[in-house]
Amino acid sequence: MNNPSVIACQSLGKTYQDGDLSVPVLHNLDLTIPAGATVGIMGASGSGKSTLLHLLGGLDSLTTGAVFWGETRIDTLGENARCRLRNQHLGFIYQLHHLLPELTALENVMLPLLLAKQSQVNAIKEGMNLLAAVGLSHRFQHKIGELSGGERQRTAIARALVNKPRCILADEPTGNLDRENAEHVFSLMLNLSRDFGLSVVMVTHDAYLADQLDIVYDLSVDGLIPRT
Ligand SMILES: Nc1ncnc2c1ncn2[C@@H]1O[C@H](COP(=O)(O)OP(=O)(O)OP(=O)(O)O)[C@@H](O)[C@H]1O
Ligand SMILES: [Mg+2]
Repeated sequence: MNNPSVIACQSLGKTYQDGDLSVPVLHNLDLTIPAGATVGIMGASGSGKSTLLHLLGGLDSLTTGAVFWGETRIDTLGENARCRLRNQHLGFIYQLHHLLPELTALENVMLPLLLAKQSQVNAIKEGMNLLAAVGLSHRFQHKIGELSGGERQRTAIARALVNKPRCILADEPTGNLDRENAEHVFSLMLNLSRDFGLSVVMVTHDAYLADQLDIVYDLSVDGLIPRT
């Protein structure tokens, strides 16, 4: 295959069950993310963008359908096997960034490497490189609670990139950033995609940034509609 998919879903559906209440969110979605592609997901608040990203990242259970990372179907794997694969292949940037508050910025960024059993020396070196790339060299020893919202978001971006994943799933990665920093981290991701064949799936409300991506989908009750 010339352009194998990094992530794909087939007939994906999600209905949240809240006691007696069924909340249908996603219905029968098919999506293929080609290797090296940059893909935007846009849509109204509540349309299910975060839900879709969580399902593609194997972070929540599907109601219907299947999710694949490369050739591997991951929704039927056990939790441990899925976590191991995720650590090797995916970087996730959450809408609420989920950094560990008691650790410093550098320790947060090192964590995926230490989980992958890399040496402390290498984790420090790579962690510092990534923090420099997102413009945070001067804050590496700060605890997360001592960082601004935008600095936390940039730390989360560095953490997602540090294990050199094949694909980044990013939920509004530039949502908390001012224009200059938004464009800075956005071009960082585009450069990584171009230089290393990294795929990027990005939820964004920012039409200016979305215009620079290879493919943009609108998510609504009608499903995922590619923008032309
Ligand atoms: N755990 C849950 N239980 C019940 N309903 C949920 C749950 N999580 C999300 N929902 C509902 O699913 C819908 C989609 O939520 P989701 O967070 O995916 O939207 P979104 O498109 O990311 O919105 P936003 O742009 O505001 O981040 C919303 O209506 C939300 O209320
Ligand atoms: Mg969301």
